Amino acid sequence: MKIAVYPGSFDPVTMGHMDIIRRGAQMFDKLVVSVLINTNKKSLFTMEERVELLKKSVEGAGLTNVEVSSFSGLLADYTEQIGACTIVRGLRAVTDFENEFQLALINRKLNPNADTVFLVTSAENMYLSSSLVREVGSFGGDISEFVPPEVIGQVTARLVNKAE
Ligand code: COA
Repeated sequence: MKIAVYPGSFDPVTMGHMDIIRRGAQMFDKLVVSVLINTNKKSLFTMEERVELLKKSVEGAGLTNVEVSSFSGLLADYTEQIGACTIVRGLRAVTDFENEFQLALINRKLNPNADTVFLVTSAENMYLSSSLVREVGSFGGDISEFVPPEVIGQVTARLVNKAE
């Protein structure tokens, strides 16, 4: 059974993430989407909220071979723990590349049994990021095209509350 992990901050999940999840799920027997901690970022949604939003979105998309989890340690350790052979990451633009390249190398050093695979983001999601969604939503802008339909209400309410 080929298991892959798609790690990220998912603060919150966007249509860009869902595009990668959908395509990753077609490539592997099981795709584990996992919320991990990026120590360089200050998150808005709690780990539990991010997992809940992902679960609702994955369920709404009808993706039966996708599991959602969280982990607060190293990605390489988690990959080993769940027996994943591949780490899936999305690439939006060349600006993502340097950081992703470095992450892939360190992860391979820490766990030589797992390789990183990059999926090129669909053109319509090139400009999208979780921070843009947070910014637009916190000023009352329409985020309905940016986040999965199942979680628009929850994400909007949280962003508006945060801004008040
Ligand atoms: N379409 C649209 N946007 C996308 C996207 C896509 N396909 N793929 C990523 N993004 C956006 C995200 O929304 C996010 O936006 P933001 O910066 O505004 O928040 C950004 O691109 C990248 O975020 P994400 O993919 O969620 O990952 P990340 O870079 O925040 O997280 C971890 C990286 C969590 C995987 C990494 O920090 C990690 O592995 N942490 C665990 C500890 C560890 O092992 N560290 C590495 C070794 S030292």
